[in-house]
Amino acid sequence: MSTFAAPKGIPEYYPPESARFLAVRDTLGEAARRAGYGYIELPVFEDTALFARGVGESTDVVSKEMYTFPDQGGRSITLRPEGTAGVIRSVIEHGLDRGQLPLKLYYSGAFFRYERPQAGRYRQLQQVGVEAIGVDDPALDAEVIAVADEGYRRLGLTGHRIELTSLGDNTCRPEYRAKLQEFLRGLPLDEETRRRVELNPLRVLDDKRPEVREMVADAPLMADNLSDQAAEHYERVKEHLRDLDVPFTENPRLVRGLDYYTKTTFEFVHDGLGAQSGIGGGGRYDGLMADLGGAELSGVGFGLGLDRTMLACEVEGVRPGDQSRCDIYCVPLGEQAKRRLVALAGQLRHAGIRVEIAYGGKGLKGAMKAADRSGARYALVLGERDLTEDSAQLKDLSGGQQESIPLSSVVEKARTVLSG
Ligand code: HAM
Repeated sequence: MSTFAAPKGIPEYYPPESARFLAVRDTLGEAARRAGYGYIELPVFEDTALFARGVGESTDVVSKEMYTFPDQGGRSITLRPEGTAGVIRSVIEHGLDRGQLPLKLYYSGAFFRYERPQAGRYRQLQQVGVEAIGVDDPALDAEVIAVADEGYRRLGLTGHRIELTSLGDNTCRPEYRAKLQEFLRGLPLDEETRRRVELNPLRVLDDKRPEVREMVADAPLMADNLSDQAAEHYERVKEHLRDLDVPFTENPRLVRGLDYYTKTTFEFVHDGLGAQSGIGGGGRYDGLMADLGGAELSGVGFGLGLDRTMLACEVEGVRPGDQSRCDIYCVPLGEQAKRRLVALAGQLRHAGIRVEIAYGGKGLKGAMKAADRSGARYALVLGERDLTEDSAQLKDLSGGQQESIPLSSVVEKARTVLSG
């Protein structure tokens, strides 16, 4: 046994499962591209202060879960726990908001949170995310939600649902916060929860303990205390979602773990996953860009958890990207044949055909078994006699038909049979 193991709480994807991982990532990314989102590649670590300011000091993510360390130059560095703050930092730094608005970006990659690992909760998690910056239009909120829904549907998922609410804007939120705090201060809560009431009262509404749930059952809700403008925005979002045929349920108790949200917030929930049922989430964050030193521009986006989406696919028996890894499996019999087939495999790959070769001097029987396992449609067998005749045997692995093909026309023949 190796003395090394991957760090705790990190899912790894290797063949054949990794093909599904790529398909999930690509399908969700493709849904974003189709709606006009351009790809942005961001650093995996940033200045710690960016997340403290952007995500919020009082959140669990910042106060408990960040991988923070000094680099060799003594700067405080943090492995990104989420993508939005980094996108906004990059937009401000490079003036990307000076072009046409909304600026629509998408990204994918690994994020890091020091959480207690369990099924569906990892310390390195993967997301595909989008951010649409600079236009405060409810139709854009609906687009973002519809893009995520479309991505999940393209994967073949049907068991997810969307929870939606509005967290208000900077006119009604402070008033609501004070009202909620007043209510919560009157409850016999424990010391730590009392502290939370002062720091982040909304989070108390999300407490999972039954006794706390019971106590906050009658708490005032943001959804009932929206300003006219926020209420109007919320109504329009719902209207657009209905027009788009994207079903949702309203959950006025929906609380997100990041501080930047305003107005529309949403979560994609999959009930087949147990405790970690949030497969994706997002919302509007109209104050974030200004908070980070940029222009007063609004934003809305989502982050979809690829690891949990993989689990949802498993639960639903959906197998995206489940295809053979090659089209033609080359079987050389002897050294001379191998030289020719290695070169021919290169030509076939140049022609866009997926090719594998039986390495290691496998005999015919073993090589044909490997050809079957590879999922290839054809085997290309080259023996000593074929070589003298300048031809190879193309064997259809499903029907068993075998044909002798001149070596000079193998690429052309392969193209023809594979396109059929
Ligand atoms: P978030 O809700 O913190 O939002 O994360 C988005 C998704 O990432 C979650 O719904 C979940 O599927 C996945 N996820 C989060 N933590 C873990 C974990 N420990 N293990 C496995 N999966 C996890 C954000 O990150 C925001 N930046 C989304 C956003 C973009 N809002 C606006 N724009």
